[in-house]
Amino acid sequence: LGQNIHCFDEVDSTQNVAQRLIRDGAPEGTLVLAERQTAGRGRLGRHWHSPKGKGIYMSLVVKPEIPLHLTPHLTLLAAVALNRAIRKVVPEVHPAIKWPNDLLINGKKISGILLESSAENEQLQYIVTGVGISCNLEQSDYPEELNPKATSLMIESGKRIDRARLIAEFLGQLEELYALYYAQGFSPIRTLWEASAATLGQTVRSSDANGNFEGTAVGLNEWGGLILRMADGTERTIYSADTRNS
Ligand code: BTN
Repeated sequence: LGQNIHCFDEVDSTQNVAQRLIRDGAPEGTLVLAERQTAGRGRLGRHWHSPKGKGIYMSLVVKPEIPLHLTPHLTLLAAVALNRAIRKVVPEVHPAIKWPNDLLINGKKISGILLESSAENEQLQYIVTGVGISCNLEQSDYPEELNPKATSLMIESGKRIDRARLIAEFLGQLEELYALYYAQGFSPIRTLWEASAATLGQTVRSSDANGNFEGTAVGLNEWGGLILRMADGTERTIYSADTRNS
């Protein structure tokens, strides 16, 4: 991974650039990096704040040979890989994963992961794994509405983060975990994810077509869905809903 790197000063979104490169035949492992994004995007149509030179804004092309319905595994795998990389490079901080793949420090978000996949005839073609990490932002770099919810590795650790080292460590962790996943399936990834989850044991609110509901998060199922135990003792699994811990 990362043998083929494209660096830009400014792009709309590294996700868009990666998708364009794929159309032009970019191989697996192609990495797109930008110093700044003018239209960085997050899950659920949200904007990703991308000030110049202060964060990591990257998109990685992967072409895994797995059935389409198992792609949520790779979302969780990416969160575990990033968590391990951060703990290695910035040992002062101890991030926890909020389902499915946000990393939080003391309840505040420091990174987000966005997987965008393409399929043809139910066959997975490629996945663009987009990762945004708040490295060297100061609290004043955040717009007012993000301020109470966001932090950066520098704010939390008190030191400047070497972005190149963190990217290299993340790619190494991803390679290791992909190898583990191909050899042993989702089960060891699930164990690693659950061991660093902030969400487990917490009350999670979610909603579906029938309205809102809440339950206690108790674990992941084999497809990577979050299992909630409801007040009446029944279980319900959520897959992609936005969750709020309460
Ligand atoms: C989220 O938390 O909702 C996911 C955020 C993902 C942001 C990254 S930054 C690099 C890549 N390019 C984008 O436009 N988004 C992802």
